[in-house]
Amino acid sequence: MLLFSPYKIREMELRNRIVMSPMCMYSCEAGDGKITDWHLVHYPSRAVGGAGLVILEASAVTPQGGISPQDLGIWDNNQIDGLKEVVNRIHEAGSKAGIQLAHAGRKAMVEGPIAAPSAIAFNEKSRTPDALSAEQIAGTVQAFKDSAVRASEAGFDCLEIHAAHGYLIHEFLSPLSNTREDHYGGTQENRYRFLGEITDAIRSVWEGPLFVRVSASDYHPEGLGAEDYVEIAQRLKAQGVDLIDASSGGLVPVAPRSYPGYQVPFADTIRRGAQIATGAVGLITSGVHAEEILQNGRADLIFIGREFLRNPYWPLAAANELGVTLPPPKQYDRAW
Ligand code: FNR
Repeated sequence: MLLFSPYKIREMELRNRIVMSPMCMYSCEAGDGKITDWHLVHYPSRAVGGAGLVILEASAVTPQGGISPQDLGIWDNNQIDGLKEVVNRIHEAGSKAGIQLAHAGRKAMVEGPIAAPSAIAFNEKSRTPDALSAEQIAGTVQAFKDSAVRASEAGFDCLEIHAAHGYLIHEFLSPLSNTREDHYGGTQENRYRFLGEITDAIRSVWEGPLFVRVSASDYHPEGLGAEDYVEIAQRLKAQGVDLIDASSGGLVPVAPRSYPGYQVPFADTIRRGAQIATGAVGLITSGVHAEEILQNGRADLIFIGREFLRNPYWPLAAANELGVTLPPPKQYDRAW
């Protein structure tokens, strides 16, 4: 079974193809971004449950980049020790550890000004962001780079850049939210520049596996779609990105119709079009479905979100379904 076969990206060898999808836990003390007891139990539980890779939630690269004040942060060196502790516990349970580097842009729900490529609010109820200056853009690129260094110090095996769901990087990519007239706006190449600079900056300090989560459809006639992301993925691949994690939506207030595997076609299109590894995510809840996606060559890794919240032992359930026997955690050996 492909789902339970090892998978190697650069020097990271996963014991299987199951990834815990990044999910905000809103569990930090407001504003400090540090790991709490909750994170120390929550993430390693999924490693004990058998995940190949556990990716920690969107972690803010600057204090203004939080989706909420309770978000994890990676903007300060005093946040490294807590992260290191989570990584160690995940490793102890046999999984690899990743972290998602994020900036919420105009969707940040933090005190003070919010930032975006252009002064366009998400919807009529949202605050209008300030358009970032060229200096502020450079500062934000530097913040992603510094965060990658901190992630490396904390011992993470893998990084994921959050370029999806209508947050800052996605806001630069899409013409719906980026109306800049400088070299960060206008053409697709210009709108990509911010992500390109972040990728280069991270790659200059990080040799390990690098994933990028994208929203492969804006669900809007003037927005971006899967074919645009084939081109974006080609650029990312050329800059050393290893895998595209294909999500969708979030830029404008439109809810996509969702059903099992609704985002798998995006992973498939990008994988074939850009010849790059992809992750499939979204309402994948059974072992058979996960195996089908892999066998049909539609994606390389399976990201599990809410089902992992419902069942930390989801990999064991999927293995049972597929008739695979997984070795238990060594602590359970005598009971098996
Ligand atoms: C999410 N999701 C998400 N995505 C992301 O890229 N970064 C994040 O921090 C979060 N946070 C988050 C919190 C919670 C509570 C949920 C339920 C979801 C999206 C998530 O990773 C996944 O892509 C979706 O949930 C779809 O997959 P499932 O849940 O259908 O397997």
